[in-house]
Amino acid sequence: MDSNEIRYEREEYLDYRITGDVALIVGGARGIGYAAAEALAADGARVALADIDRSAVTAAAERLAAASGVKVTGFGVDITSPTQVGELIAAVTSSLGAPSIVVQSAAVLDDKLFVDSGPADWKRMIDVCLYGPMNILHAVLPGMTERKYGRIVCLASDAARIGQARLSYYAAAKAGVIGLIKSVAQEVGGSGITLNVVSPGATNTELRQAREAGLLAQMGEEKYARRTRNVLRGYPTGRLGEPADIGAAIAFLCSRQASWITGQVLSVNGGFVMP
Ligand SMILES: NC(=O)c1ccc[n+]([C@@H]2O[C@H](COP(=O)([O-])OP(=O)(O)OC[C@H]3O[C@@H](n4cnc5c(N)ncnc54)[C@H](O)[C@@H]3O)[C@@H](O)[C@H]2O)c1
Repeated sequence: MDSNEIRYEREEYLDYRITGDVALIVGGARGIGYAAAEALAADGARVALADIDRSAVTAAAERLAAASGVKVTGFGVDITSPTQVGELIAAVTSSLGAPSIVVQSAAVLDDKLFVDSGPADWKRMIDVCLYGPMNILHAVLPGMTERKYGRIVCLASDAARIGQARLSYYAAAKAGVIGLIKSVAQEVGGSGITLNVVSPGATNTELRQAREAGLLAQMGEEKYARRTRNVLRGYPTGRLGEPADIGAAIAFLCSRQASWITGQVLSVNGGFVMP
C-alpha cells in the first residue's frame, strides 16, 4: 500500500494496524511514553524504547516484549546530547530498522516559583524539554524525508497553553516545543511527514506523583486534600488521566489514517482546558 494513500476501504477506518513500522519512543521507560509504546505494539509496530534510565528501559523493553509478543528493544540515551541522539538513531536503525514513528515523551519537571529559580534550573529544563526534541527531530527528519514518510508526536503540556504557577520555565520550554512542531510541520508536510503535539492534563505517572508528594509534604494533609478536590473540579470528566488515555491518542496520530493531521496540538485532558 502507498504509505500516503488517502482512500480507505470501509473496514480500514477502524483498523490502525501498523505492522512493519518501527516506532521509537523516547522517554519510554515509564509513564506516558511506555503507555504509547504499549498502544503502538498492540497496533503491530516493532518498538524501540529509549531513556536516560538505562536499567529501567531495559526492564521496560523486556516487560513489553513479553506482554505484547512484538519485538521490543531498549536503548540508553540522554536527549540533551546531539551525539547520543545520533548514535541512538543509528543503533535503532541497525537493530530494528529505520524508525517511521517517533514519539518524544522524555521530560523533567521543577516545582518552583519563578523568583526562586535561577539560570541553572532554566538551562536544565530548556536542555531536556526543548533542545532534546530539537536534537531528535534533527536526527530523524533527513531519513524520513528520504523515505517520504514519517509520524512524529511530541508531548507538551496544557501548562504551555494556559500557564501554570510554579511551572513557569517548564511551561516556557513546552510552549517552545509547540512552536517548533508547527513550524517544522510546515517545512516537511510535502514529504509525507506529520508532526503533532499531544498536550496532556494531569496524568497519573511517576512524574506527577513525585510533584504531588512534594506538595503534600509542604501543605500537610488537610490543605493537600482540599487542593486535590479543587483540582478535580477543573476536570469535567471527574477524574485525572491515566497513561493509557494519552497513549491511545498518540497511537492514533501515528496511524496512516492520521495523514491529514499535522501541526496540531491535541489536548488529552478530560476537558480541563478547551482552547
Ligand atoms: N504526567 C502528567 O501529568 C503530564 C502532564 C502534562 C504533560 N506531561 C508530559 O508528558 C510527557 C511524559 O510524562 P510522564 O508523566 O510520563 O513522565 P515520566 O517522568 O514518568 O517519564 C519521563 C521519562 O523521561 C526520561 N527522561 C528524563 N530526562 C531524559 C533525558 N535527558 N534523556 C532521555 N530520557 C529522559 C525519564 O527517565 C522518564 O523515564 C513529558 O513530556 C511530560 O512533560 C505529563
